Amino acid sequence: MKIAILPGDGIGTEIVAEAVKVLEALDLKFEMEQALVGGAAYEAHGHPLPESTLNLAKQADAILFGAVGDWKYDKLDRPLRPEQAILGLRKNLGLFANFRPAICYEELVGASSLKPELVSGLDILIIRELTGDIYFGQPRGRRISPDGAFAGADEAFDTMRYTRPEVERIARVAFEAARKRSKRVTSVDKANVLETFQFWKDIVIEVHKDYPDVALDHMYVDNAAMQLVKEPKRFDVVVTGNMFGDILSDEASMLTGSIGMLPSASLNTQNQGLYEPSHGSAPDIAGKGIANPLATILSAAMMLRFSLNQTEAADRIEAAVKKVLAQGFRTADIYSPGTQKVSTAQMGQAVLKALA
Ligand code: IPM
Ligand code: MG
Repeated sequence: MKIAILPGDGIGTEIVAEAVKVLEALDLKFEMEQALVGGAAYEAHGHPLPESTLNLAKQADAILFGAVGDWKYDKLDRPLRPEQAILGLRKNLGLFANFRPAICYEELVGASSLKPELVSGLDILIIRELTGDIYFGQPRGRRISPDGAFAGADEAFDTMRYTRPEVERIARVAFEAARKRSKRVTSVDKANVLETFQFWKDIVIEVHKDYPDVALDHMYVDNAAMQLVKEPKRFDVVVTGNMFGDILSDEASMLTGSIGMLPSASLNTQNQGLYEPSHGSAPDIAGKGIANPLATILSAAMMLRFSLNQTEAADRIEAAVKKVLAQGFRTADIYSPGTQKVSTAQMGQAVLKALA
């Protein structure tokens, strides 16, 4: 078994380092190989996703990814920006199914911006389609009018697009996932306005015929954004497109107290997966040693469970994380009075100790 380790930029390097220590401590037989990605790869090789990094990712059974991006690259041409690395990995490896759980740990109920009774026991699974939609639809670009009325372009456009097989397979993933949980799926769309999402809704209804044991409801994305803060526990499995999933998963993650706690998995049809924290590279706190490594450590646990078939090891990591929270260790993002504030490395150490 081979794991590609791609720390990336910003806090990515700090949090992945802690997750790697946890993986090493498990004493399992797998090989880990590290490579540059994002802004770090651009600096070294002139491209955010160099051939060598992409090849390593393709060969690996699983990928542990940190985060990419920094405002200092905002002026680069789009194909060279760090974000293209993660988009390129998703597209090249066909990682179409993105699992973003939003689980509220009992110890962190007070860290949520919502009232404790609204989030206590919260356990939502957002399933975001990851290789279609307006993220990848063609054509896209900018147009300059023939009379050159404006400096630069006077029009810009992206194409929202889904194909039938793309919607069918993500719908199946959602219904299958729901079967292992409370058997409820909410499909989020904007069918009242967008052709793409009427098509989405129609196909989800069709696929649902194969899953009569699962309850399905539909919600417009604006309403879903509202319901997530009004009554988040009404949701169980949420399935949606790439763009809406991007937005709603950030919203849902914050209900749990901190985006610093949430892992994610992106899988292809062969169950090869990329595992990354749901948060970004946070350049504002990079290098300060205060980032929360738990989302990445929990992503490593997801990797063991989904791609490497090491359920027991995954359970051990998750139990260790629960233990350090119960012991009162908190990085700054989840700190509250009465708990013990620790650094990134101290949190990593605490997990290692809890594992032993
Ligand atoms: C995410 C991120 C990415 C996305 C960016 C970094 C390209 O926001 O994984 O949610 O928009 O998908
Ligand atoms: Mg996002």
